[in-house]
Amino acid sequence: MDSSVKSFLLDVRAFANSFLSEYEPLVLVSAPLIALFVASMLQSALQVLHENGLKATLLGFFMSFVKLVPGVKSYIDAEKQKVVDKLQSGGKSVRESWRTELPSTGLGVGVIEQMKDEKRKDVAWQGKCSGAVYIGGSECEGHFSLINEACSMFAHTNPLHMDVFQSVVRFEAEVVAMTAAMLGSKKKSSGGQICGNMTSGGTESILLAVKSSRDYMKTTKGIKKPEMIIPESAHSAYDKAAQYFNIKLWRVPVNKEFQADVKAIRRYINRNTILIVGSAPGFPHGIVDPIEELGQLASSFDICLHVDLCLGGFVLPFANKLGYPIPPFDFSVKGVTSISADVHKYGLAPKGTSVVLYRNHDLRKHQFVAVTEWSGGLYVSPTIAGSRPGGLIAGAWASMISLGEEGYLENTKKIMEVSKRLQKGCCFLFFSFSLSEKGVLFVWLFLFYFGDWKQGY
Ligand SMILES: Cc1ncc(COP(=O)(O)O)c(C=O)c1O
Repeated sequence: MDSSVKSFLLDVRAFANSFLSEYEPLVLVSAPLIALFVASMLQSALQVLHENGLKATLLGFFMSFVKLVPGVKSYIDAEKQKVVDKLQSGGKSVRESWRTELPSTGLGVGVIEQMKDEKRKDVAWQGKCSGAVYIGGSECEGHFSLINEACSMFAHTNPLHMDVFQSVVRFEAEVVAMTAAMLGSKKKSSGGQICGNMTSGGTESILLAVKSSRDYMKTTKGIKKPEMIIPESAHSAYDKAAQYFNIKLWRVPVNKEFQADVKAIRRYINRNTILIVGSAPGFPHGIVDPIEELGQLASSFDICLHVDLCLGGFVLPFANKLGYPIPPFDFSVKGVTSISADVHKYGLAPKGTSVVLYRNHDLRKHQFVAVTEWSGGLYVSPTIAGSRPGGLIAGAWASMISLGEEGYLENTKKIMEVSKRLQKGCCFLFFSFSLSEKGVLFVWLFLFYFGDWKQGY
């Protein structure tokens, strides 16, 4: 070592020793430990701030302080426990009469009578449960009975065995192709490669689209710590997907019109972002997000964009054809990489039917699971379930083929007209409510409009 460097180091050492000799050994040992502790606390706080945002972090701190007030924490814990106890014991008395073992002698066809008795105890939902059952009219006639017949005809089939149940394999391919055509697959701008599968519902379609996007982005961009950004109004299926597939989820507040706030979403995009999301429409407000703007954003960052058309898939394409002003929402929009559309909602198919679609095969291949070295033989499964209900696929096919474009156009017209009347009614109600001192008028008008809406539907 150079002698000048050596003498410099010796000087530094002498200075440090003389400076530290003023302190007690205990202080010298504990200072670095305290510094380490403070640094790690600071790092955790910054991480919480980064993950939850300033507002939620401050609220979290405030709640932690409130809990320090004597009695507050024990009060909150006791209230929580009450809710848990209620949930766990809820309906216990009803359940006491429920079977927990097989009957020693089977009931044979008598079981049907017993089931009819049980069904009679259900709430009278026919035509009355918006957001639950989408087919109107009596359960024993019309579209209902047609679907029931189609389902029961194929109740024992399973498209997992493609070579055996070729009928349902064809039905599934046709349901997917017809849905894709409704959502832009035949337009040149779609790229001509739209493909997909039937799933058990909107949630499964969303789960699969998220999983495929994650694996696609891992392959193409090497993203190993995936993040996705969704508007606050997006369905809770994305929370499920985030938990199942280990993806960090950012929920971004919507704008004043309750639409996805594209500028705000942009601020959350980073090198780990795999996917952004738009709904057409979203469940909470029934409002269509600006899909074109989201598409531009996704394209400019080369990330995936899923459009949730679970509710709108069987309404918006027909509303468009009827001439209602509908902003672009499907594969004709550049940047849209996947779409979910529920046949079991406004497609008027039996419960347990949805379609997930992808822009191309490169994306969709990440949805499949193929096990080649299993002692049970080659196993290839396209969706989450292994065996799948061919009866439901047949029911969806029957619904689409029996209604045809004309049927869906007719239904959509009714829906759009009713929604217009509701809108008008709501504006009127709001106005009347502002005028009426005690809100009596509000209640009366609500009943009036609700009754009217039911008839129109
Ligand atoms: C917009 C939207 N997305 C997804 C879903 C989830 O669909 P499912 O309940 O069929 O899983 C719903 C359900 O209402 C929805 O409205």
